[in-house]
Amino acid sequence: MSNDPTLRPRDHFTPRRGWLNDPNGLIHHDGEFHLFFQHHPHALVHGPISWGHAVSADLVDWTELPTALLATDEEHVWSGSVVHDASHDRLVAAYTAFDPATGRQAQSLAFSTDRGRTWVPHPGNPVLDVGSTSFRDPKVFRHGDGWAMVVVRADDRTVDLYRSPDLLAWTHHSIFGPEGSVEGVWECPDVVTVPVESTGDTADVLLVSVSAGAPAGGSGMQYFVGELTEAGFRSTQPARWLDHGPDCYAAVSYTDAPGEEPVIQGWMSNWLYADTVPATDFRGSMTVARRLTLRRRGSDLVLVQRPVVRPGEVRCSLEEVDVAGERPLPVVARSCRVVADLEAGTAQRFGLHLRVGDGERTTVAVDPDALTVSVDRTAAGEATHPAFAALHAAPLPDADVVRLEVVVDMTSVEVFVGGGEVVLTEQVFPDPASTGISVFAEGGTARIHTLSVVE
Ligand code: FRU
Repeated sequence: MSNDPTLRPRDHFTPRRGWLNDPNGLIHHDGEFHLFFQHHPHALVHGPISWGHAVSADLVDWTELPTALLATDEEHVWSGSVVHDASHDRLVAAYTAFDPATGRQAQSLAFSTDRGRTWVPHPGNPVLDVGSTSFRDPKVFRHGDGWAMVVVRADDRTVDLYRSPDLLAWTHHSIFGPEGSVEGVWECPDVVTVPVESTGDTADVLLVSVSAGAPAGGSGMQYFVGELTEAGFRSTQPARWLDHGPDCYAAVSYTDAPGEEPVIQGWMSNWLYADTVPATDFRGSMTVARRLTLRRRGSDLVLVQRPVVRPGEVRCSLEEVDVAGERPLPVVARSCRVVADLEAGTAQRFGLHLRVGDGERTTVAVDPDALTVSVDRTAAGEATHPAFAALHAAPLPDADVVRLEVVVDMTSVEVFVGGGEVVLTEQVFPDPASTGISVFAEGGTARIHTLSVVE
């Protein structure tokens, strides 16, 4: 294994070594954000999974700590969550104990009284076992006087809700699904309460990852806006896609995050090709953390995601200029953030070229007639899987001026359109020398109202 620094993102969490998939046990506790994660430290592919561990004060700079929950020959530690149990002043991890011999999946607990540094297994494990080989990813949250857990019956495409007074004894409560996208198995559920912009209202949103059938191909995430009541979770509008790019999966929220807006973070890959992407001494990274609100659009509420970013310095800015053709910006960047307010004017297509180099570019394009926004990574760089080099299109949020915010970081672009109403998350593997950025307009002139590159 080599250690090519150009594959290591600056502002995204990656493990020191080995394989990473889902974020687990996301919680803010005692001034620290904890990010546990599906980790196989000794290989670059999925295998006997443990929970890795990292902490951060700001969700951008992470310090990796020793492995928190170690896989054994009898038990692999699959995805789950962490809550703070105030009555015992301890952190409680709820995870899926996967038995590699039988495929059995049951929910187990571990306790920590030292801020997540060391963990002791619950002697009564598992606490929830229905004899299934497709029952996983418990997300526990406070509910009324006690606790609730959402957990998937993956093959059935359902999210089951359980309740407990003490985190130890669980009673089945209700079932949601199948509904929305059911092509792939369901994984990694979460229920978050999200404020509706410009109102004092909130709505409950159920997040569900699906292993296949997502809009950009392979795995992805859908969400259901609805309400969690005494009767269980009920959706009040059709399912929508959380991310129109291929590389956001298993995102769940931080428990006890400060503020009204939930903060989610996902795994930046896709089960279709996760084990084939270029790797050095590690493979896999998280997305940036994202704050959630809901925005009213007609009769629907739409999830809006805002990236949590490093403040940075402005390297280049433009105001009220026209662009026709291609306009390279006077910057060189592999890790930066581009924020632009662009208006179509007479242009038929306009947008940004990122990581531009010798024959390489990742294109973010707005097509005002087709009302789409797309990311094209067919010329982005190395493509190690037949499904990788593709163009992914999404519906363009309705507005005269299109706001594009792109988080560019060594091996990825995350595109937030319309202030985060539409998001496309994409891994890219350009040559390290591909560092250019340009604005372009085709078939006419587009207007750059504002543009800045922050590094
Ligand atoms: C989602 C998932 C989970 C499972 C974990 C195993 O990516 O398949 O359902 O718990 O990964 O690593």
